[in-house]
Amino acid sequence: MLSELIKTDRLILRVFSLVDVEDVLSYASDPEWARFLPVPQPYTRADAEKFVAGQVLKDRKTRASWAIEYAGSVIGGIDIGFNFDHRVGEMGYSIARRFWGKGLTTEAAGAVIDESFSAYPDLNRIRAGADERNVGSLRVMEKLGMVREGVLRQDQYLRGEFRNMVWCGLLRDEWEARKNR
Ligand SMILES: CC(C)(COP(=O)(O)OP(=O)(O)OC[C@H]1O[C@@H](n2cnc3c(N)ncnc32)[C@H](O)[C@@H]1OP(=O)(O)O)[C@@H](O)C(=O)NCCC(=O)NCCS
Repeated sequence: MLSELIKTDRLILRVFSLVDVEDVLSYASDPEWARFLPVPQPYTRADAEKFVAGQVLKDRKTRASWAIEYAGSVIGGIDIGFNFDHRVGEMGYSIARRFWGKGLTTEAAGAVIDESFSAYPDLNRIRAGADERNVGSLRVMEKLGMVREGVLRQDQYLRGEFRNMVWCGLLRDEWEARKNR
């Protein structure tokens, strides 16, 4: 089972709690944050409540999420879902716009990758996908050592347009090689 609490140099990753609704609403109601995410627009308090309740009720064996806490506030979230038959995990993340570009998502995602490969010795691969225009997200994947594997054309239909999705993956062997560098 994945740890419910992960500490990094600057962040605390911990399970969401119902008291986080206000923090989630404050970053998720920013349309720039939502641009590449399949979330409701406009994003209301009810949406934040539904999101947080969903995280609290999650079966952490197959899909684990963490609130990203920085200096006492929740500034984002990160999750990973598993298909244990195929030994694959799929990760997603987001943080509030005012914290972009400080390396915080790379720090959080690196910790979740380490935790996942360590906790599940059979896990062989972690993948993540992003809209091809989401330069920041694709750069996070690159900094994590993930390999750009392909583009799924018009794979998402969101807010009236089809979106091309770039998929990246990190194999256990590659993760181990990076650790031992
Ligand atoms: C995508 C996202 C998670 C990145 O988070 P972040 O904390 O800014 O990521 P990091 O700081 O760890 O790394 C971002 C990198 O992208 C780069 N970057 C961001 N926007 C860029 C742009 N428009 N052009 C070039 N580089 C860009 C940053 O410079 C940084 O690279 P560097 O460290 O080499 O300078 C954040 O922007 C976000 O939450 N966006 C909204 C939700 C979202 O899109 N989630 C991902 C869905 S796939």
